[in-house]
Amino acid sequence: MRQKIAILGSTGSIGRSTLDVASAMESEFEVVALSAHRKIDLLAEQTRRFKPRYVAITDGVPLDAFKALVPEFGGRCLQGAQSLVELATLDEVDIVVCAVVGAAGLPAALAAASKGRRLAIANKEPLVIAGRLLTEAAKKSGTALLPIDSEHSAVFQALQAGRPDEVKRIILTASGGPFRNASRQEMNNAGVTEALAHPTWSMGPKITVDSATMMNKALEVIEAVWLFGLSPDKIDVLIHPESVVHSMVEFIDGSIMAQLGTPDMKVPIQYALTWPKRAKGLAQGLALEKLKQLNFQAPDPDKFRSLVLGFQVAQTAGSAPVVFNAANEAAVSAFLEGRIRLGRIVELIEDCLNAHSVRQDLTLDGLLEIDAWARRYVLTRLGQNKTAHMAKV
Ligand SMILES: NC(=O)c1ccc[n+]([C@@H]2O[C@H](COP(=O)([O-])OP(=O)(O)OC[C@H]3O[C@@H](n4cnc5c(N)ncnc54)[C@H](OP(=O)(O)O)[C@@H]3O)[C@@H](O)[C@H]2O)c1
Repeated sequence: MRQKIAILGSTGSIGRSTLDVASAMESEFEVVALSAHRKIDLLAEQTRRFKPRYVAITDGVPLDAFKALVPEFGGRCLQGAQSLVELATLDEVDIVVCAVVGAAGLPAALAAASKGRRLAIANKEPLVIAGRLLTEAAKKSGTALLPIDSEHSAVFQALQAGRPDEVKRIILTASGGPFRNASRQEMNNAGVTEALAHPTWSMGPKITVDSATMMNKALEVIEAVWLFGLSPDKIDVLIHPESVVHSMVEFIDGSIMAQLGTPDMKVPIQYALTWPKRAKGLAQGLALEKLKQLNFQAPDPDKFRSLVLGFQVAQTAGSAPVVFNAANEAAVSAFLEGRIRLGRIVELIEDCLNAHSVRQDLTLDGLLEIDAWARRYVLTRLGQNKTAHMAKV
């Protein structure tokens, strides 16, 4: 019996790599559902190739436009943000790959975990803003939450070498992004082209900007807290420019377990799909003999302010990560539209955090209310939301 997969965000970088893996393992996996936000041409191409039973378009693109591109499609077409929840909870689906970008993936990720679907999660933002709800839902339904993020996949694999109470710390590695060797001023003044020039990974625009500011690593620290049930003081970050050691776990006896590989997301994607088994992979093996050196260095806290904030937010928990993430999403959108320089992103996030009174133990509705407030706050600071009510939330 082939495992049936729903890919939320199939037109993105992770979504496309997931389809490559599924295509190479056609005898193991059947793609039954796909979603796109706006790229209906690519969704149409994927539909012709994979013949899913369901497709969803989450933005307002008319369904007729999609149907005109694939008149032979006989499955169901869904539309709107809520359609992701429908795909994530289809009775025939075994594995949900959550590869949409940003908080938009939260309702579907939560629905998949609650329904007991195996959730292969690349989309870190839902774990950042609702880690408690997601992990509790997965625990209650008895399902597995499998990380696709390469660092968390590495930690997940390395953790298998010991018991939870034997873990001293985990070490998340970071490439250092395009501004690793730049001065703080050069980094802060950077524009879109420089920020999108990632030295080692090819990814979607939002995560690439997050990598440039190191917000990505800050979000990953919070993601790790929830995925592995660790307190933030057991998490360290090291810059590792070669992006070969994807992350490490140090045990109490001083042994450090690392997972190594070429920087190719197909490796962690495939492991999330095949776990607890392994299968022959698509990615090129790592030519260890060609590696001249592996470097590690502590990140400069003055340069990468986002990382300092990330640890503070992880420690504060409650609604702080919601504000941290939402302010970042709003600021990154403004940056990608060319309206602010790179350094303004973290300033806006810090400003928004300072304007917020943290609340604990929130429901999903409470989290979403704070998420919306933080986005409005950033837009107002950017002069784009003249009507917003800016009382503290
Ligand atoms: N790329 C990587 O190597 C990588 C590594 C680790 C973790 N991640 C995480 O994986 C997630 C996806 O990253 P990515 O790089 O694949 O992003 P991406 O290339 O920008 O793709 C995002 C996907 O989500 C869809 N989408 C965009 N806005 C949406 C919305 N509001 N509602 C529903 N769907 C929406 C896009 O549809 P359209 O294409 O139609 O616009 C696309 O299918 C992110 O959370 C990222 O942090 C990525």
